[in-house]
Amino acid sequence: MDRFLIRGGQRLTGTIPTSGSKNAALPALAACLLTADPVTLEGIPNVRDINTMERLLAHTGAIVQRDGNSVTVAATNLDRPEAPYDVVKTMRASSLVLGPLVARAKVARVSMPGGCAIGARPINLHVTALEALGATTHQDHGYIEARAPKGLQGKLVTFDKITVTGTEDLMMAATLANGETIIENAAREPEVEDVANLLTKMGAKISGAGTSTIRIQGVARLHGATHRIIPDRIEAGTFMIACAITGGEVRIAGCQPAHLGALIAKLRQAGVTVEEENADTLLVRAGDTLRSTDITTEEHPGFATDLQAQFMALMTQATGISFVKENIFENRFMHAPELTRMGANIRIDGRQAIVAGPTQLSGAQVMATDLRASASLVLAALVAKGETTIDRVYHIDRGYERIEEKLQAAGADITRIS
Ligand code: EPU
Repeated sequence: MDRFLIRGGQRLTGTIPTSGSKNAALPALAACLLTADPVTLEGIPNVRDINTMERLLAHTGAIVQRDGNSVTVAATNLDRPEAPYDVVKTMRASSLVLGPLVARAKVARVSMPGGCAIGARPINLHVTALEALGATTHQDHGYIEARAPKGLQGKLVTFDKITVTGTEDLMMAATLANGETIIENAAREPEVEDVANLLTKMGAKISGAGTSTIRIQGVARLHGATHRIIPDRIEAGTFMIACAITGGEVRIAGCQPAHLGALIAKLRQAGVTVEEENADTLLVRAGDTLRSTDITTEEHPGFATDLQAQFMALMTQATGISFVKENIFENRFMHAPELTRMGANIRIDGRQAIVAGPTQLSGAQVMATDLRASASLVLAALVAKGETTIDRVYHIDRGYERIEEKLQAAGADITRIS
């Protein structure tokens, strides 16, 4: 298993490029199952979760070809419309194929995800939404099977709770339903909008994606298309925080500043300068000191839960007390004990972490537990005194494309040990 060896204390400078968004690429790949024609997706990051989704599509019978960051999927035959346990257990986003498969193949069998490191993460909302469109579902042997032999029927669906992949799953299924589907209380994440843009290029009739009401007029079939995935706002945000924590000055290139509003506001509040140099470049410059800043994670456009762990690492270096509240997942503070082992002063009180800073962090042997928690340990290590070893780097590889190479190029002392 790979490890990272990081020697802290280097100030980051230069330009860091942004990869395509993992969380937009995952539903986009699933959307390819909706048509028999080839779909080409550009800007697909080469990370483990995406490789897992590629394997899953191949399992269903689709032909998947990768050329650099371009992936072409031809789902001409869907011989096995299922997501087996072996795949789902390593990547919960596998449930994104449920909607497309039942819409196109009229049947889908997807392993139920179990608990995971950041919370229970059930898929009940995906299932209830598809049932509302007329699918009958049946659960046994750890699988959920959905059937719609006569096709899905458009309907008004109001989500009890905002769900990102649930919204995407339903939106994809509804593109091939009879009549109109209206999704109320839909997720407004940029990734939802990006998938809607892809689906529209494939011939779907969708309006309102990016707002909390999405309308989908079902069509008989979708066709092939070519689409470039949006930049990864979480990756860009992680590098912005890396710059701030090391007292650096970094250009984040190829990003989408409009998707990073909540983080930019909080970084400025903490004393970091963030300038929009042009439409796709942000210049981030650390100030002399960092001020304590509170965050509360919320659905988009609020502060992203996927940047909470990284921001907490930053607040260990800020003067004063910062309150970090996690509203989306019930168990997303696993980085806190590891940061504490490095010298941070963090107290957990239910869904809130109280960070007292600044503390001098010192290098230690720490363990990655989930994707974003691992990223926060990398950030802490960049500013810690001495050497940090991070075990179980495969968690980082799930969602960050060559993170060590990008950080090295900006001056970090980080090595991968295989
Ligand atoms: N929820 C339910 N039932 C459901 C679905 C969700 O109770 O059927 C709950 C979840 O347990 C959670 C809340 O609703 O408490 C929101 O979960 P959501 O469904 O929005 O999360 P997701 O779609 O499974 C996506 C991202 C996550 C990101 C969350 C929140 C993808 C592939 N994953 O997950 O990304 O944290 O939205 O923004 O888009 C990551 O990239 O590290 C990551 C975990």
